[in-house]
Amino acid sequence: MTTMRAAAVEQFGPAENLTLTELPVREPAEGEVLIRVAAAAVNPPDLGMREGRYRWREPVRFPLVPGWDVAGTIEVGTADLPVGTAVIAVTAHSQTQAGGYAQYVTLPAGYVAPAPAGLDWAHAASLPLAGLTARQALAVLDLAPGDRLLVNGPLGAVGGFATQLAARQGVKLVTQGPADAALDVIGGITAKKAFAAVRDGGRYVTVVPEFWVPDGQFASARGIEPITVLVEPDGGQLAELSKLAAAGELTTRVAERLPLENAAQAHRRLAVGGVRGKLVLIP
Ligand SMILES: NC(=O)c1ccc[n+]([C@@H]2O[C@H](COP(=O)([O-])OP(=O)(O)OC[C@H]3O[C@@H](n4cnc5c(N)ncnc54)[C@H](OP(=O)(O)O)[C@@H]3O)[C@@H](O)[C@H]2O)c1
Repeated sequence: MTTMRAAAVEQFGPAENLTLTELPVREPAEGEVLIRVAAAAVNPPDLGMREGRYRWREPVRFPLVPGWDVAGTIEVGTADLPVGTAVIAVTAHSQTQAGGYAQYVTLPAGYVAPAPAGLDWAHAASLPLAGLTARQALAVLDLAPGDRLLVNGPLGAVGGFATQLAARQGVKLVTQGPADAALDVIGGITAKKAFAAVRDGGRYVTVVPEFWVPDGQFASARGIEPITVLVEPDGGQLAELSKLAAAGELTTRVAERLPLENAAQAHRRLAVGGVRGKLVLIP
């Protein structure tokens, strides 16, 4: 059996629980591909997952390798994604429990898209989760050119992609109300302020799940219905984002590259806040 290095937890808890270990490489089933991971971005959901604050489709199987974002090379492929193709993917970790903090990951081929040409691995790995989340949140907001959109965390990854994508659609980005729509990427009191900035009958979407920020979700008011968007893996949408990134029309940001063995350190730094751009693990 082939094994790989991975950062994994044996039980939920603090960052110290995330340690380097040796795990079997899972053989791809029908319709799946095996990716040799070149870079894995660290995302806020990875921290919640490590702490056990997560909703899973199936009971959790330990050791659990976190990580939603990967960039790498196809090792076992399909006709559309042959061996050697440079790719990016979301792991849809809450569904697959297949994490990116490892030398290899096995995923459904439908989650995978060609990597953005011209970007290095770390920048490529910073695109999938936040890019797809932003794209899908904007689709739900269904904005028209000229609409006024407030994004309450435009410096973050999801907020940054959302503002770039919205601007391409001719949407006007505003920092205060009245707005036709708001996208919350922060939760809590900041989410309530964003909601309050939306005009009566406008639209409001949050990407911060209620089960993480209990105060972040609230009832409909003034004809505005709060909608929570949870990302869905979609290789086709990811391919579109990849092309935009390759064309320089979508900018990804990397704060720092760290070796896989520093995964716990990356989690601690993300928890403190103030990181601008993604922390990216290199296995
Ligand atoms: N629904 C989904 O499917 C989905 C998918 C991906 C991510 N998410 C969620 O989306 C959120 C953003 O993710 P991300 O990848 O964009 O994270 P990120 O890149 O770390 O950005 C988060 C941004 O929000 C800022 N921020 C955090 N708390 C703040 C506060 N109280 N006031 C003002 N600014 C604040 C951060 O600034 P500081 O660092 O300075 O605090 C940072 O600029 C996270 O909650 C994540 O869990 C949801």
